[in-house]
Amino acid sequence: MRKFSFVFSGLLALGVLFALQQTNSLKSARYTWESPRVPPGFDGFQVALVSDLHGKRFGREQKRLVQAVRDLQPDMIALTGDFIDRKTKDLDFAREFLEGIKNIAPVYWVDGNHDPHSPLYGELHALLAEYGVAVLAGNCVDITHGGDTMRLLGYAFWELYHPIEPADIVLFHGPDDFFRFAALGCGLVLSGHNHGGQIALPGGRAVLAPNWHLFPKYSGGVYAEGESTMVLSRGLGTSDIHVRLFARPEVVGVVFRAG
Ligand SMILES: [Fe+2]
Repeated sequence: MRKFSFVFSGLLALGVLFALQQTNSLKSARYTWESPRVPPGFDGFQVALVSDLHGKRFGREQKRLVQAVRDLQPDMIALTGDFIDRKTKDLDFAREFLEGIKNIAPVYWVDGNHDPHSPLYGELHALLAEYGVAVLAGNCVDITHGGDTMRLLGYAFWELYHPIEPADIVLFHGPDDFFRFAALGCGLVLSGHNHGGQIALPGGRAVLAPNWHLFPKYSGGVYAEGESTMVLSRGLGTSDIHVRLFARPEVVGVVFRAG
C-alpha cells in the first residue's frame, strides 16, 4: 500500500510539472503565405500574430514574450484580442508588453469576445491609444511596404454581421467564421480564440477549447478555403480551465511571398 501511494504521488508530481510546462512555456510557430494577392513590395513581409493573452505574463515584465515577438523581426504586429477577461485584475501585464513591443513594428488590434466583458475594457483601450496601437473596428487601413499597398480589415468579435469587404488581410478573433471571409474572397485571415484546443491529444488534436467547446473544427495552424488562407494562433493564456495540454502557448510569425 505504501509502495502504491509512493508511485501515485510520483506520477501526480510528474503530471503537475508537465501541465505547468505545457501551460507556461512559450514557442514560436512560423508559416508562409504565398499568394497572387501579395504584391512584389510585400515579398518577405513578416507579421507577428499575438492572441488570447488573458492577463498572462511570460517572464518578468513580459520579457520572454517581447523577445519572441522581436525574434520574428516583424514588419507588423497583429493583436487579435482576448488580452483581458472578467477575471483580469489589472493591466500591468498589458502595459509591460506594449512597452516592450512599441519600437518593433506598427501594432494593430481587434477586440475578442472576452475583452468587453472586463471592467478594465475602457482602460485597455486607453492604454492601446497611449501606445499608438491602431484599433480596427469594422474599418480598413492601407498598409504600405516596398512601394506597394495592401488593404487590412479588422473587426471586433461582435461586429461580424456588418458588411465586410474582400480585403487582402483580415484580423478577426473567431476562426469559426473563416468561411464568411473566404466567401467574400479575402486573402489572409489572422485569428485566435480556440487556444489550440487548450486541452488536446499528443500530436495536437484539439479536444476541449474555451467555452467548453468540444473537438473544435479549427484549433491552430493554417487552413485554406477557396482563394483564402487562415493562420490561426493557439494563443497564449487560458480561460475556463486554467491549464493547457498539448497546446502550448505560441507567438506566430507569417511571412508573405508573392505567388
Ligand atoms: Fe476568445
